[in-house]
Amino acid sequence: MRRDSRQKFTIQRAGIESSNAIAAVHIDSWRATYRGHIPDDYLDQLSVSARTEFWKAELAREENRVFIAMHNDSICGFIHTGLARDEDLDDRTGEVYAVYLLSDFQGVGLGVKLWEEATRHLRNGGATRCVAWVLDTNQTAISFYQRVGCRPDGARKCDVIGGREVTELRYQVSLV
Ligand SMILES: CC(C)(COP(=O)(O)OP(=O)(O)OC[C@H]1O[C@@H](n2cnc3c(N)ncnc32)[C@H](O)[C@@H]1OP(=O)(O)O)[C@@H](O)C(=O)NCCC(=O)NCCS
Repeated sequence: MRRDSRQKFTIQRAGIESSNAIAAVHIDSWRATYRGHIPDDYLDQLSVSARTEFWKAELAREENRVFIAMHNDSICGFIHTGLARDEDLDDRTGEVYAVYLLSDFQGVGLGVKLWEEATRHLRNGGATRCVAWVLDTNQTAISFYQRVGCRPDGARKCDVIGGREVTELRYQVSLV
């Protein structure tokens, strides 16, 4: 999307009624982002209805937050945040579990706005740092995390997604 100051976007906290729309954005953005990184079969079988159930459960959890980017009453992206899940991290470490925008809405600053909202929430809850995991082949996301101040902290993990081995790197930033 062209940068245009007339474009009106808002960022707000998501409620459970947004589960289906978030699931649709999630899967659409996954397919656009990971085609070529993860097997097509896996991406093609992703189901909005199954993902909607996941989001309903997540949005019911008081300790986590989802913020959505809205454009003309439609959700065009989201960020999902809460306490870090890794055992080597203390309970003052937050995590961005996921941040996804529809392709047409990437590159106009919404990712940074979502990040700022998520980290404001984490900071208000007492977090002193934030981590995020990223696929080592996802160069756009790596640039994004670096742009918001994150640096690789040395943690990495291997996973198998759709039968293909992938490597994820953990990025970290201080919130104080
Ligand atoms: C990663 C993502 C959330 C970033 O949000 P965004 O709104 O596109 O990014 P912004 O416009 O706020 O730009 C922030 C920085 O991200 C980087 N970036 C954004 N789009 C980029 C692109 N197409 N190529 C390379 N870097 C890019 C740049 O460093 C940019 O900083 P700059 O504008 O000073 O150059 C978004 O591009 C996206 O949803 N990508 C697909 C899903 C994804 O990979 N999610 C992360 C999973 S770990």
